Amino acid sequence: MNSLEIIKKKRDRSALAADEIRFMVDGYTAGEIPDYQISALLMAVLINGMDTAETQALTEAMLHSGDVLDFSDIPGVKVDKHSTGGVGDKTSLILGPIAAAAGVRVPMISGRGLGHTGGTLDKLEAIPGFDVNLSVERFREGVERIGICLIGQTARIAPADKKIYALRDVTGTVESIPLITASIMSKKLAEGIDALVLDVKTGRGAFMKTLDDSRRLARSLVDTGLRVGKRMSALITDMNQPLGRWAGNAVEVAESVATLRGEGPADLEALSVELAAEMIRLAGLAPDIDAARGVARRQIATGRALEVFARCIEFHGGDPRVTESDQHLPRAARRHVVTAPRAGWVAQLDAEAVGMAIVVLGGGRLRKEDGIDPAVGVRLHRKIGDRVEAGEPLAEIQYNDAARFDDARRRVETAYAIAEAPVEAPVLIRERLE
Ligand code: URA
Repeated sequence: MNSLEIIKKKRDRSALAADEIRFMVDGYTAGEIPDYQISALLMAVLINGMDTAETQALTEAMLHSGDVLDFSDIPGVKVDKHSTGGVGDKTSLILGPIAAAAGVRVPMISGRGLGHTGGTLDKLEAIPGFDVNLSVERFREGVERIGICLIGQTARIAPADKKIYALRDVTGTVESIPLITASIMSKKLAEGIDALVLDVKTGRGAFMKTLDDSRRLARSLVDTGLRVGKRMSALITDMNQPLGRWAGNAVEVAESVATLRGEGPADLEALSVELAAEMIRLAGLAPDIDAARGVARRQIATGRALEVFARCIEFHGGDPRVTESDQHLPRAARRHVVTAPRAGWVAQLDAEAVGMAIVVLGGGRLRKEDGIDPAVGVRLHRKIGDRVEAGEPLAEIQYNDAARFDDARRRVETAYAIAEAPVEAPVLIRERLE
């Protein structure tokens, strides 16, 4: 086998064999195949696509480039959830404790913010003392003792993905369904899970902007998981506007705690319960989705889910008092209220613009090596479909660095559009795939 012939084969629209895909992935991970040849192959894949068998072979080659955790000796069904990324999407912090309280074992390998989208690890690190860098042994102990544990991708988990993702980022080859599928699934399959629930976002604030593309990505992710013997389900959910009423890091922890207490915004609670119910159903802890929803809601109503979250925080070295009061979370020093220039109905609240405002304020990264200001955030007083009078608040920006404020304010102001006639709020849960 040689790389040049494999590149030409994909260029000429032929399907690659599993051993050819493995040859390229292994060769690149070992430093034997140069960046320029893998770049050419990635571009050929982006243009000509891959069939299901090729996508599976790529996923498995990337998965086996590193360690695959084995939690089969831990009693119970191990289930995780993965979101393709959004703004204000803090559902992991809510559904993880709900599912764990219901008896699901939840090993989560989570990510950091990417572009305008937030990351679970950055949110958790807003909790004073919370350590996401646990050893695999400690991770296992957390899953066993608490029912949920969350860590970041280590150098030993799917190293091929780490290398290939960095290359895709600078070669215009991110937006490819087979490449996204292999990237996400290689990391998730390394977690030692039996089942996976996917939240595939669609709309202005998502990687996939159209429902059709989101559907194709969901199908590809589900098929790849099924082919390697995992139980899978996927929801396609709206990401035209941020989820919930807050976006940032510490502010999203506070909103997650409120939701676990039964005091969260309706959209966030509905999606968290729905995804947790999918996890409970896939774990075989409820006969159908209706019963699973009931189980999920009971974990909130009885306070058990909040209790699990507090124990999880303590296990990670964090301050569990954040589950009692947001006084224990970092707070921004300054506030600015963005008001409505005229009366009407909110017709647009661009999730990507709000996400970028948070990045600019320091709540996300403009460069890979940037640190995070955990306290900054945006409170959304009005969302799509809401009525607003002239001069009433649309959003509140919470910030620390005055030099970054003007740019962020402009982004939040332009995120909103107000119409003269009533507007329907977007449907949150668009489709379900099994
Ligand atoms: N998230 C990933 O982990 N990989 C992708 O390719 C896109 C989103």
